[in-house]
Amino acid sequence: MLILGIETSCDETAASVILDGRKVLSNVIASQIDLHALTGGVVPEVAAREHAVKIIPVIHQSLKEANVGLDDIDAIAVTQGPGLIGCLLVGVTTAKTIALAKQKPLIPVNHIVGHLYSSWLSHDETIQFPVVSLTVSGGHNELVLIRDHYDFEVLGETLDDAAGEAYDKAARLLGLGYPGGPAISKRALKGNPHAYHFPRAWLETKKNPKNWINFHFSFSGLKTAFKNGSSIFLNAENDSKISLNKNQVRRKHKKDLTADLAASFQHAVNEVLSTKLLNAAQQYKAREIHLVGGVSANQDLRYKIEHALRNGKSDILGPLAFSRHVTFRTPRDLSYCTDNAAMIAAAGYFKYQKNPSNFHQWRNIAATTNFEHLF
Ligand code: KG4
Ligand code: ZN
Repeated sequence: MLILGIETSCDETAASVILDGRKVLSNVIASQIDLHALTGGVVPEVAAREHAVKIIPVIHQSLKEANVGLDDIDAIAVTQGPGLIGCLLVGVTTAKTIALAKQKPLIPVNHIVGHLYSSWLSHDETIQFPVVSLTVSGGHNELVLIRDHYDFEVLGETLDDAAGEAYDKAARLLGLGYPGGPAISKRALKGNPHAYHFPRAWLETKKNPKNWINFHFSFSGLKTAFKNGSSIFLNAENDSKISLNKNQVRRKHKKDLTADLAASFQHAVNEVLSTKLLNAAQQYKAREIHLVGGVSANQDLRYKIEHALRNGKSDILGPLAFSRHVTFRTPRDLSYCTDNAAMIAAAGYFKYQKNPSNFHQWRNIAATTNFEHLF
């Protein structure tokens, strides 16, 4: 089955053609990063206008690269939400237009479910359920138990900010540019992750002492601590070095300091993400652990999970008896971590398989910023 996927929920205009839910025939992404770097973040109106300009050329390119025409496509899958409403409207309206003109089924897809399905792309191995998947990106942070295709239970989510948002904010404070995640992880390579201790929100509940780490997330406290801490450390460093009156020495020191701050920040975020993911996998007897979403590109986060599974123990949780029987997966290609349309087409395929007769009602499909249910 050939599916055309369309994704416009935030700052990537994307279209992809995939075969049978996994084989990626094309994956075209027009990134708006350069545009939003000018303002240090996404301005919704600017993003929506850019989607309107790019959507048709991007779809055209994805069909061309897949060497197919619209008549060959069996169904269209589109991100319905969550996301920025003006952005979603561009993708949904375009998808509805194609569905109407070509009389094709239209499958609305939840963006977060799209991220969950990014680990299915470009390989033939059978994925063993239950899967515990952490989707972590700029807009969302969800820990999900996947019992079977389209059988999800949200175990935890962020109570305030997503981890990617915290990365972006930290990078802005250190003057490292946008998007922040890659910039922080690059600078962190030269820093000491134990130089500063930033707070971890474990959010323990007394009600359930056995499950001493609950599965929700919070990064707003860390963001504030980092804002206060980094300005104190950076100013103190500037002052002492200015008195030496050696600008080059000062600049070198400042770079070292931002590297330590970046590494310590990254360590704080990733320790929480990896520990909660491992703990959930242990408790729900997962056969696979998946890490998806923009932040899953982070090498330190991947390493923390791999290292704990290889050694059969976590610094925080202690022994991990299940570690030898579990498969850890991240998306096959880095382009499947950040927003893309291949993952939307994959999710659409598995949704369609569950109930093929359900997707001829293009009139009823509307973009939505909030998406309470994952189905
Ligand atoms: O999934 P995504 O493309 O968009 C949303 O759905 O939000 O994720 C974008 C987020 C940004 O916050 C970006 O800073 C973060 O993913 N990100 C990273 C890395 N690459 C992208 N965060 C940490 N380390 C990375 N290497
Ligand atoms: Zn996303």
